[in-house]
Amino acid sequence: MADKKFYISTPIYYPSDKLHIGHTYSTVQADCMARYKRFRGYDTFFLTGTDEHGQKIEDKAKEAGVTPKEYVDNIVAGIKDLWKLMNISNDKFIRTTDEYHEKAVQKIFNIMYEKGDIYKGEYEGLYCKPCESFWTETQAENGLCPDCGRPVIKAKEESYFFKLSKYADKLLEYYEAHPDFFAPKMREAEMVNNFIKPGLQDLCISRSTFKWGIQVPVNPEHVIYVWLDALTNYITALGYGSEDDSLFKKFWPADVHLIGKDITRFHTIYWPAFLMSIDVPLPEKVYCHGWVLLEGGKMSKSKGNVVDPVKLADRYGVDALRYYLLREVAYGADGVFSNENLINRINSDLANDLGNLVSRTVAMVDKYFGGTIPAEREAGEFDDDLKALAAETKVNTEKALDNLYFSDSIAAIWKFISRTNKYIDETAPWTLAKDESKKARLAEVMYNLCESIRIISVLIAPAMPETSVKIRNQLGVGEIKTWDECGEFGKEDSYTVVKGEIIFPRIDLEKELEELAAQSAPKEAENPLKEEILGVAKIGIEDFAKVDLRVAEIKECVPVKKAKKLLQLTLDDGTGVPRTVASGIAKYYTPDELIGKKIILVSNLKPAVLCGVESCGMILAADAGEDEVKVVFVDGVPAGTKIR
Ligand code: ME8
Ligand code: MG
Repeated sequence: MADKKFYISTPIYYPSDKLHIGHTYSTVQADCMARYKRFRGYDTFFLTGTDEHGQKIEDKAKEAGVTPKEYVDNIVAGIKDLWKLMNISNDKFIRTTDEYHEKAVQKIFNIMYEKGDIYKGEYEGLYCKPCESFWTETQAENGLCPDCGRPVIKAKEESYFFKLSKYADKLLEYYEAHPDFFAPKMREAEMVNNFIKPGLQDLCISRSTFKWGIQVPVNPEHVIYVWLDALTNYITALGYGSEDDSLFKKFWPADVHLIGKDITRFHTIYWPAFLMSIDVPLPEKVYCHGWVLLEGGKMSKSKGNVVDPVKLADRYGVDALRYYLLREVAYGADGVFSNENLINRINSDLANDLGNLVSRTVAMVDKYFGGTIPAEREAGEFDDDLKALAAETKVNTEKALDNLYFSDSIAAIWKFISRTNKYIDETAPWTLAKDESKKARLAEVMYNLCESIRIISVLIAPAMPETSVKIRNQLGVGEIKTWDECGEFGKEDSYTVVKGEIIFPRIDLEKELEELAAQSAPKEAENPLKEEILGVAKIGIEDFAKVDLRVAEIKECVPVKKAKKLLQLTLDDGTGVPRTVASGIAKYYTPDELIGKKIILVSNLKPAVLCGVESCGMILAADAGEDEVKVVFVDGVPAGTKIR
């Protein structure tokens, strides 16, 4: 039985961020895989959960005026509801605040400590709170986290360190001996070249400047670094370090840790080194998926796109959302989400291709045979071709899913759906129906259509469990027992169909987009801006008069070498003397987009040196969103014109 087990995990999510469709994408993939493996007879364990300790959570709780535990309890309930809504079939939900986990983490710390892999020292460096990760000055260029681009903070504190450096060669050996450890494979070179080859530094694994974490067993003044705490969830959830470790014995090593690409380093360097230190085998595979992005960048609330999975599932159905995420994002790559994209997919793939196939077929069986296909049937042209593609589709879908190519698996299934639709056109049942002597042929055509749809209902079941059941209800067939029900014709003797609702109603794209836009425009009553603006302290006109605002034209623009954020602008401010201004807009504009444009300059700001550039004044720009900045441009006014 040992080879028939399958253990897959998702990342455990931070409760401090509202979960969006990016997180949903992660979990839906894992769910699709777990369902597929269960169908194929694997004893499957599917784990998800929440990562609840650390400085970020402690800060958020403080802001909210509650204890960290109260803070996470509130949010975790909502996360569990989301997974229930999305039909996530996890076998366990781990919270890192669960007592068994905390105890096991302390045991793990002790094992490493006794082995001599942990020593006390002092940490002095940089820290990214949102990512909970440590960086050196060279890594965090310009004080920004190389992973997420947000500012890092200085950290200096007494810490325990894990001898990560000791494991560099062993990691390289392991990668070499396990060519399938990284998926996609390109992530391996990235880790080796960016982190291991330049020299692995020992890793700080305790913090002493805040309290919200698992205590270091040998020193109550310290809490265990949140990533050591979090990563071990994959084994503590199976009972490692507890009295009953039968699940651990059965399921470990994990077959797949499914993660987003931003946390590859933690899963393919730190985690394997931790496991080596405590003499536990390493996971078989770490699959690093790409991101779901919004047009023009990463997720951001201000873009008017609905990215709340609850809202989307409400509007379009859970399976439509699951389908879209699995289909739209190619293996290991980023995908771009838009409501328009989603609606187009629903209309073409779901309503048109799949939905119509089912409703047309059921309606025809109903119309021509009163719902039951007669036993007397006659084979004919096109049947073999259809059957051959069914068999091929099973093989292609398996091959794709076995390798975590979700989008390809769906493409393979949809190829068969299109073929089946074409079969209707080829056989033209409406013509057969007019001729009494073609009745047996018509019966066979209907039977083949029902068989195709039955096969499709199996193939799509891992991705769209509810839709699969709905379709099978209309076909009058019961639950799927094994995956092998797909691929081959002749599994059912006959069909008595049951007319049902339209599975995927068409959506009027234009109307829907208008409605969404109207919804995302903030209503006056709940517009937080109103309070914010009314709340700003008032100044007199004489205060404002101190600010000298001028129109200026950007003549030259170059990036500042040592500062990724900065652009160095040379302005014509009307005085005839070129003026230099450094502006933190490099992420949002290329020099080409700026040269020749007129902007508003604060001309009497005291000069300041920014990354080696003396900046004389600043230009006005709007904070247009969490991660968006728009420079204020003016038109048709000469340089030097005063603004008041
Ligand atoms: O990193 N598209 O938690 P997290 C796709 N607690 N995936 C996305 C995404 C997007 N737009 N945004 C986030 C953590 N994710 C740690 C994990 S595991 C021992 C600890 C993915 O809530 C992201 O890549 O910040 C990551 O894999 C996961 O969501 C959890 O992110
Ligand atoms: Mg994150």
